[in-house]
Amino acid sequence: MSYLIGENMVGGYGGADILHACTIAVEKGEIAVIVGPNGAGKSTAMKAVFGMLNLRSGAVRLDGRDIGALSPQERVRAGMGFVPQTGNVFRSLTVEENLEMGAFIRDDDEVRETMDQVFALFPVLAEKRRQPAGELSGGQRQQVAVGRALMTRPKVLMLDEPTAGVSPIVMDELFDKIVEVARTGIAILMVEQNARQALAIADRGYVLVQGRNRFTDTGEALLANPEVRRSFLGG
Ligand SMILES: Nc1ncnc2c1ncn2[C@@H]1O[C@H](COP(=O)(O)OP(=O)(O)OP(=O)(O)O)[C@@H](O)[C@H]1O
Ligand SMILES: [Mg+2]
Repeated sequence: MSYLIGENMVGGYGGADILHACTIAVEKGEIAVIVGPNGAGKSTAMKAVFGMLNLRSGAVRLDGRDIGALSPQERVRAGMGFVPQTGNVFRSLTVEENLEMGAFIRDDDEVRETMDQVFALFPVLAEKRRQPAGELSGGQRQQVAVGRALMTRPKVLMLDEPTAGVSPIVMDELFDKIVEVARTGIAILMVEQNARQALAIADRGYVLVQGRNRFTDTGEALLANPEVRRSFLGG
């Protein structure tokens, strides 16, 4: 039994289905990566798992519990953090305010400690805590987005293209941080355009094509698979 699983998900946006019996799962402390061509339904699968899409059939379970009827906000309370592909920070708010907003569901008095943990993970955010997030570089803004999601102390962190638009060096750094987060026991479910690099840190990889699971294996095995390499990794 997987810690988080979207199983045989079928659904879309009201018209034709986008997901066709798509299954995505991740374990605690592991990194699962979804790759595939543009329009394959990667973001749609993430939205479905997070409850932003009504499924026609299939199930989403977290720690064995069917969470299919929960709203996204209820899923956050259940332990899920989500960083969407776009619009994932409040640009006019400072870094610190963004992180505070991330803690919106919490009513305990340890929010400060979590923020310090986020600053320890991303030191540049501590430096820029009073700056509007919109003034940060793309890579720094992605750190704000990830940090904001961590503020709820999630058990599962879902990231839709966390390295979009950043340089290779910044991408490597961000992947190192994501590995660090996974080592704390959090399950990471991530969509990535930088397929090779992402699969290199993935315990499990999914290649989605037209809303279907095309290949599922360890990251290592997918990287070594000639057909995957030829069709999805540029040879
Ligand atoms: N809000 C929406 N309403 C209607 N159709 C949508 C919506 N969002 C996405 N789609 C359609 O669903 C399909 C899958 O899109 P999705 O964004 O899930 O792909 P993706 O794999 O994340 O692509 P990318 O790599 O470009 O981010 C596409 O055909 C897209 O046009
Ligand atoms: Mg997408």
